[in-house]
This record gives sequence, C-alpha cells and structure tokens, in this order.
Amino acid sequence: MQLLIDLDGEGPLYMQLYRAVKNLILAGNLSEGQKLPSTRQLAKQLSVSRNVVLLGYEQLKAEGYIVGGFGGGTRVVDHLPDDVGNRLALGNADLNYKTDPVQLTTQAEISLAYWRARPQLNPNPDKHLNYDFRYGDIDVDSQSVKIWKQLSSRLFNRHVHQYGEPQGELHLRTKLADYLNNTRGCHCMAEQVAIVNGSQQALDIIARLFITGKSSVILEEPGYQAAKAVFQAAGAHIIPVSVDQDGLQTDRLPPYRGETSLVYVTPSHQFPTGSILSLSRRLALLEWAKQTHSFIIEDDYDSEFRFEGRPISALQGLDNSGRTLYVGTFSKVLFPALRIGYVILPTHLVEPFIALRWHADRHTNTHQQRVLAEFITLGHYERHLRRMRRRYQGRRDRLIEQLNHCFGEQVVLQGTNAGLHLMVQFKETRLKIQEAEIVQSARKAGLGIYPATPLYQTPPERLGLLFGYGAIDEADIAPGIALLKQVIESFHS
Ligand SMILES: Cc1ncc(COP(=O)(O)O)c(C=O)c1O
Repeated sequence: MQLLIDLDGEGPLYMQLYRAVKNLILAGNLSEGQKLPSTRQLAKQLSVSRNVVLLGYEQLKAEGYIVGGFGGGTRVVDHLPDDVGNRLALGNADLNYKTDPVQLTTQAEISLAYWRARPQLNPNPDKHLNYDFRYGDIDVDSQSVKIWKQLSSRLFNRHVHQYGEPQGELHLRTKLADYLNNTRGCHCMAEQVAIVNGSQQALDIIARLFITGKSSVILEEPGYQAAKAVFQAAGAHIIPVSVDQDGLQTDRLPPYRGETSLVYVTPSHQFPTGSILSLSRRLALLEWAKQTHSFIIEDDYDSEFRFEGRPISALQGLDNSGRTLYVGTFSKVLFPALRIGYVILPTHLVEPFIALRWHADRHTNTHQQRVLAEFITLGHYERHLRRMRRRYQGRRDRLIEQLNHCFGEQVVLQGTNAGLHLMVQFKETRLKIQEAEIVQSARKAGLGIYPATPLYQTPPERLGLLFGYGAIDEADIAPGIALLKQVIESFHS
C-alpha cells in the first residue's frame, strides 16, 4: 500500500514522518483500524532509512495513534480519543485557522449583541441562592406531568412517520379556538389559528411578515425585551410609548407617515408593570390601527392567571377590522420547554404566515401537539389550571403580605392582580443609584432579586424590582423578603 505522504522538511526526518502520518489520521484520510505500510515499504517509498520509519512509528505508538508492529502489521488504533474524533469531524481544517473577520448581516449583529447581553437581562438560575425571585420559571405540577407522560407514550406511534401541517394540528387548533373564544373573549375560527414554537417564534415570523427597512414598531415603555430584540434585529425603527396605570398611552401614538407600523402590546397584564389597558384606550388603539393601516400584536402571555377583578377580554375580540394578531403561549401554563404557542391571524394573513413558517422549520412537533390536544379534550387542562391558580395565588398573597409587612409605605406594588410576577417600586430615589450594589449584596446573602431597569429604554428614576413567584416555594417567601429588608436597610445607614 502506498501512502500519500508529504514530508515538511522541518527538523529530523523521523519527526517529519511522524507529523505527516499524524496529520493523515487527524484529517480522516487514515481511518480507525486502517493498516499502515510496513517500515520497509515506507522507507523504500520515501527513500529514507528504515530506522527513520521505525522511529516515526514509535513516536506515533507512544502517543496512542497507532498499534502493532513486530510482524503483526501496524495499524491505526481502533478507537481514537474523543478530541481526536472532534478534529476528524473538522476534516482538513487547521483548528487554529485564522480567517478574515466574517461580515455578518445587520440582523445577525443586532441579534448577537442581544445574545451577549443576555446574562445581564436574564441570568441563568443560580443554585447557590437560597431564595430566588427570578421571573420566567414556573412550577411543574407532578400530577400533570404524570398524565402528560402517559398520554405521550400512548400517542407516540401515530403519525410520526409523516410531516405535519405547518399551520398546526387541526384538532388542537379547534380546541384552542373554542377555548380562546369562550375564556378570552376572542373571536376566531380554527382556520385562523396557527401553532408555533412558543410566542417568540410568532414574533419572529410576524417581523418577517411586515418589517422592511422603513417600518416602525411601537413598543411599550417599559416592555418586553425579547420582542424588542426581534423587531430591532429585523430592521425596524423602534418607537417607545410609555405606559401608565391604564396601560399604553394611546394619545402618544405617532401619526400615519405613509408606512404600515406594528404596535406590540400586552393589554391584559402589561409586562412588566401589570397595568391593564383600559377599554377606552383599547378602542383608541384599534381606531389608530385602522386609521394608520397598522397592525396590533396582542401578547396575552399570562392571562390564565387572574386572581382579582373580572377577567379581561382580549383586544382581538373587539377588533372588527382585522388589525390584531393575537399571540399566546403554553410556557406559563404548562412548561416553557414544551415550546408551544399560538397565533390568531386575520384571515388574509394566514397563508403568508404559514409560508414563512414552512420555510423556517416546517411545523411544531406533531406528537406534542396531539398530546396537548388530548390533555385539553380529556379535561386535564382545566383541572391543571385550577390547581395552578390556587398554588400561584397562595404565593402571590404571601408575597404581597410580606412586602407590605416589611416595607409598608416605602414601596408601591404594581401588577398584583394577575400573572406570575409583580413589580415593586421603592419610593426613595437614592436607592436607584445603588441598584447594582443592592443586587450584588443580596446575591452574596443568597437572595436573587431582579431590577426592572433592563426593561426600560430610558432608565427609571426609582429602584424597581421584578418579583417572579412562579418557581419559589410559598414557605420561602417570608424569609426571602425578610432578607431583602436587611439588605435594603444596610443601604439606608
Ligand atoms: C411578555 C412575554 N411574552 C411571552 C412570553 C413567553 O414566551 P415563549 O412563548 O416564547 O416562551 C414571556 C415569557 O416570559 C413574556 O414575558
């Protein structure tokens, strides 16, 4: 057997041979277990002494690349170590290659900047914290998990051999349309519902549906960072419009400038302040969308958990001019890792939405959609909701009670009547200046607290903290808030 060997001319001959064979192994040109030429053959081929080949092979053996010899034939080892396998996957590429900087698109650059800022905006769960008020995590209900697993294994084999519908499984869409019409005051048919991989995918597709270099997207101030990231990366001009106790200040919406705009709102429980968009503003927003040929994205992310007051009907149900795209998710109600969300689209936008979606990732996991549809049909979803509402309400009540008990008049609580989080504003302005130190000091004491500052485009004057209670045990709330009191007091002195 002839090996295509190039000696690089650097240093002793046996080392040149060693490097040449090693490179062939790393590049995958010599595979695991493959026989090598005998020392005599190779010496002849390269016109070197046999000793050179013997020494080269010895070095390769010592480093674990080859085995054998002494009449049994020399070959590449049967199992190369993993890191060598990784190198093989890279083929001939030099791992330390240097290339010109890659020219990324503006969209990729903006996404990358948000991605890199992520640890500040949404830090990973920290196991060392004794009390963590992180927003976004939820409680997993063991009863529902058990049922989910049973349904999952029962339904697995059906239809997994086929691609699914890009719009989503009809059974699930029908169930959802009924559910949303009955409980959220929506007005839709299953034909208008599309199933997506969480609301984030819905926002991404909507951005691709509408945004050109000239588009504007109006966002609530403060508001949901993940929505801003998507729209900004898609090239939209972002216009913040502030929020007060009645939600988005619709009288501040910009006039029509000849281009379709999008407005993203969380009207049932504004994120993060929790305010509810008043009826007069809902009507004003719909009228504005009609007048300016704009579209409203209604993100109804946590409306299943309403603890006080009457349920708030969705804006979508009031819209009689097809200007609202209603987005919902199962991330809060069931599990965020499920990655199932949905959109109600005006009929004429259904097909373009599905076309974009088809090009991105075909469809949402069909099997999980079927499990979810069955979970709803068999009544488990309703029971799950009732259990979770009770559980979260207990935590919310305890949190409000403890915040009032420990801070009383020093704080204003916002958005307490729904969802899985609330906002706390500290009245004393001096605390805002020390925000980073307060968070740091709490962390050292084993307490996770999260300022609302990253959710603002213009930083607020007062210290605002976002308290998630989806994942914290009720029993941990009182000691957690007592610890916060100690931390805050240490900053008063
Ligand atoms: C305002 C808002 N919308 C939507 C979501 C859910 O996003 P997804 O469905 O992609 O998990 C969240 C989650 O934290 C949220 O805060």
